[in-house]
Amino acid sequence: MAILKVARMGNPILRQVAVPIPIEKITSPEVVRLISDMLDTVAEYDGVGLAAPQVHHGVRLVLLCFDQQEGFEAWINPVITPTTDETEVTTEGCLSVPDLRGEVRRPSAVRVEAYDHTGQHFVRFLEGFDAVVAQHECDHLDGVLYVDKVDTKTLSFLKEFRRYTESTDGLEEEE
Ligand code: NI
Repeated sequence: MAILKVARMGNPILRQVAVPIPIEKITSPEVVRLISDMLDTVAEYDGVGLAAPQVHHGVRLVLLCFDQQEGFEAWINPVITPTTDETEVTTEGCLSVPDLRGEVRRPSAVRVEAYDHTGQHFVRFLEGFDAVVAQHECDHLDGVLYVDKVDTKTLSFLKEFRRYTESTDGLEEEE
């Protein structure tokens, strides 16, 4: 088990476009180890998602949790496409941008195509908060942070966000 160091905004790794993982490498010891270490890391930070570039690995791998009971799933080489013109606004946070929250408008439904940790290809349709988490994490693979898309007037420090904002049902990627 290893808890990895999380890169913070300003670290160039967060701005690079991550490279695909060759399909035949998905079950290799290196990738299995990285997924395992990322699971330890995201659990330690109490996040709902983590992208490999956030732990200094420039590869197209994200972990996401859509259901506490089911735990995390790994997506490798995800391709995400909006399936609606409708958008919704969600309060987001990011382990790489500690102690900040802000509102981001994103498409409210997406189609995802990716490989799971066993190398199985899949297609999923997500909406609502799940779609937000998926888009936030996949953005990391293209060097995009939520602060690039945030409504800057809503940016808050976490302490002030909790003090002045009624709703806290946002993307609580870190505590
Ligand atoms: Ni993030």
